Amino acid sequence: KAVVQQLRRGIASVGMLAPHLQKSMRDYLNLNRHHVAYRGLRRGRQSGREVLCELKEQARLRTLDGTEQPFSGLAWDRLVPTRPLEQLWGQGSKFKSCAVVTSAGAILNSSLGREIDSHEAVLRFNAAPTEGYENDVGNKTTIRIINSQILARPRHRFTTSSLYKGMTLVAWDPAPYSVDLPRWYRNPDYDLFTPYEERRRLHPTQPFYILHPKFIWQLWDVIQGNTQENIQPNPPSSGFIGIVLMMSLCEEVHVYEYIPSLRQTDLCHYHEHYYDAACTLGAYHPLLFEKQMVQRMNSATQHDLKTKGKVTLSGFSAVNC
Ligand code: C5P
Repeated sequence: KAVVQQLRRGIASVGMLAPHLQKSMRDYLNLNRHHVAYRGLRRGRQSGREVLCELKEQARLRTLDGTEQPFSGLAWDRLVPTRPLEQLWGQGSKFKSCAVVTSAGAILNSSLGREIDSHEAVLRFNAAPTEGYENDVGNKTTIRIINSQILARPRHRFTTSSLYKGMTLVAWDPAPYSVDLPRWYRNPDYDLFTPYEERRRLHPTQPFYILHPKFIWQLWDVIQGNTQENIQPNPPSSGFIGIVLMMSLCEEVHVYEYIPSLRQTDLCHYHEHYYDAACTLGAYHPLLFEKQMVQRMNSATQHDLKTKGKVTLSGFSAVNC
C-alpha cells in the first residue's frame, strides 16, 4: 500500500517492495535472458517534459515492414498491411483523445466505462474482455496489443476467439537485445510468426502488425537511462509499450489504472481470480520504473489519480521539443 501511495507521488523505490518481489527482481538481473548490455548514460532526475521529449526522440514507433532479413526473403513486404500503422487513420492525422485501459483488478467497480468509451480511440491489452465488464471498462476497442503468448498458446484460441476480431492488432515478442532478427525468427520467446502469417492470409483486411524489437528495446533504454538503479533486463510491459504507441497516434492520452487508484488491489486482472502484487509492481517487467516515468509525465490532478487511477499525457505531436 505504501509503495503505491509513493508511486502516485512519484517517489517509490525498490526498497519499499515486499522482500519476495525484490528477490525475483535480483534473480532476473542475474539471469539476463535477453542478453542486455546497456551502454547508455544515466540521467539525473528529468522533468516530465524532458522525459516526454526524450521518449519522442529516442523511441520511434516502428513495425516490421518486411524489408529486412529474414523477413524480406520470406516476402513479408507483401504479407504486412500496405498502410503503415501511423497512417492507418489518415496520413498525418492524429486521434484527438485516446484511452489506454490496463487490465488491473483495480478497475473493477470504477464505473469508468462511459468515460473510457467517450475517447476517440481505445487501446486494450492481451485477453482483457469487455463483455460483462462494460460498466467499468467500456466496450469500444480500436487497437489491441497482444504479446506472443496470446498468439502461440492454445488456451487463448487466437484463431477463433471473438476477442481478437474487429480491431487493429499489434503483436510483440522480446527479441534479443542486440535485435538480431534472423536469430529472433529462429527462436522467439513464443512462436508468433506462424500464427501471424496464417491470420494475414485468412483475414487480409484486418490491420495486424508486429512491433519491431528495436522499438521495444529503445523504450527499455529510455527507462534505464532515467533510473539510477539497474532495472530488470527484460522488455517493458505491454502497458508501457501501449502508452508510448498511443502517444505516437494521439494528441492526448488518458491511461486508466496503470498507476493504481485508491481501489488498488493485488487482484492481477479484472477478469481473473488471480492475486499477485507483481502484476502491479513488477517482477519480470521493469514496471515500477516505467510507472515512475509515466507519473512524471502526468498532467492530470492527484484527485483523478486517486479516484480514477487516471494519468493524462500529451501526445508527441502536441509537444514542441
Ligand atoms: O497482464 P497484462 O500484460 O495483460 O496487462 C496489461 C498491462 O496492464 C500490463 O502490461 C501492465 O502494464 C498493466 N497492468 C498493471 N497492473 C496490473 C495488471 C496489468 O499495471 N495489476
